Amino acid sequence: MYNSRISGLGFYVPENVVTNDDLSKVMDTNDEWIQERTGIKERRHVVKGTDTTTSMGVKAAQKAIERAGIDKDEIDFIVFATLSPDYYFPGPGVLVQRDLGLKRTIGALDVRNQCSGFVYGISVADQYIKSGMYKNVLVIGSELHSHGLDMTTRGRGVSVIFGDGAGAAVLTREEDTSKGILSTHLHSEGQHAEELSLIAPGMGKRWVNDIIEDNDPEDTSYFPHMNGQFVFKNAVVRFSEVIMEGLQKNNLGPQDIDMLIPHQANLRISQFIQKKFGLNDDQVFNNIMKYGNTTAASIPIALTEAWEAGKIKEGDLVVLAAFGSGFTWGSVIIRW
Ligand code: COA
Repeated sequence: MYNSRISGLGFYVPENVVTNDDLSKVMDTNDEWIQERTGIKERRHVVKGTDTTTSMGVKAAQKAIERAGIDKDEIDFIVFATLSPDYYFPGPGVLVQRDLGLKRTIGALDVRNQCSGFVYGISVADQYIKSGMYKNVLVIGSELHSHGLDMTTRGRGVSVIFGDGAGAAVLTREEDTSKGILSTHLHSEGQHAEELSLIAPGMGKRWVNDIIEDNDPEDTSYFPHMNGQFVFKNAVVRFSEVIMEGLQKNNLGPQDIDMLIPHQANLRISQFIQKKFGLNDDQVFNNIMKYGNTTAASIPIALTEAWEAGKIKEGDLVVLAAFGSGFTWGSVIIRW
């Protein structure tokens, strides 16, 4: 058995900055409401024709591969997490393989676990490496939300929260099993599937043909729906549980955390967790103020920024934790 370690990290966000004031010009909202409820000051939106979920993932991955100090031909497998793929099918994993010019027939897996997608992706990659099947696995989280949101007052409870961007990590075989990814912990509760969801078009309740036939301007089924307060209440409980589960599995406690990277769902959720575990500001990294909630991309973007800022050093205990649509949630415990 081996461990896996994160050998390279990268992120990419589109240049176009959209402030809260910019949003208040197209819907009835304001900077004060958004900042008070979510901590978000601005987010990035792709300008049509410039980037896609795949192209952002490719740019983040190029950086991660370069920093891992390997040739792109050494990538054995791709895991791509997103809820906003370029195409309905095929998923973006194979598009990255093609556009990045990775080895021509390596496997590519698409993960559909929304805000927990990167944590699920890391867990999958870790198992492949632990078992000896692969040596270098590329894990990407990328989202292009902005052009699938209801940017009117009707959609303001959701639209102000989400932003575009991508992050990537290369996981590499580590022979020293006291280092790298120590454990991963995954959960779901499908009972609440529709509380944070995008129903249409799908092969369940709203078919493409239904939408075309109805041609109803009041139809909101193809916009994301979120029961905000219910999501918030579940998030704080599940984040806490899954972080503790990971720590306990490794005979560690909250005081051992050097850096917690929570999925950037809402600054108030991160602050709640920080307070609950008695962590100081240096032990938790947040950048939702700049990028909003970028779903599967939020953890790798935050992890990369924290690492680039020198906030993560060799030997540190790093904890990743996510919660989101599904509901799904999970944690990753890393000895850096
Ligand atoms: N600007 C101004 N007013 C807004 C608004 C916006 N962008 N969005 C909603 N409102 C209004 C509502 O219409 C409502 O008005 P009313 O009282 O006249 O009906 C009022 O603000 C309160 O709405 P509510 O939805 O109850 O607000 P909230 O305090 O629950 O905050 C969230 C909304 C979404 C910020 C909050 O529920 C939240 O953060 N939930 C968790 C979301 C999350 O983390 N999602 C990602 C999970 S991965």
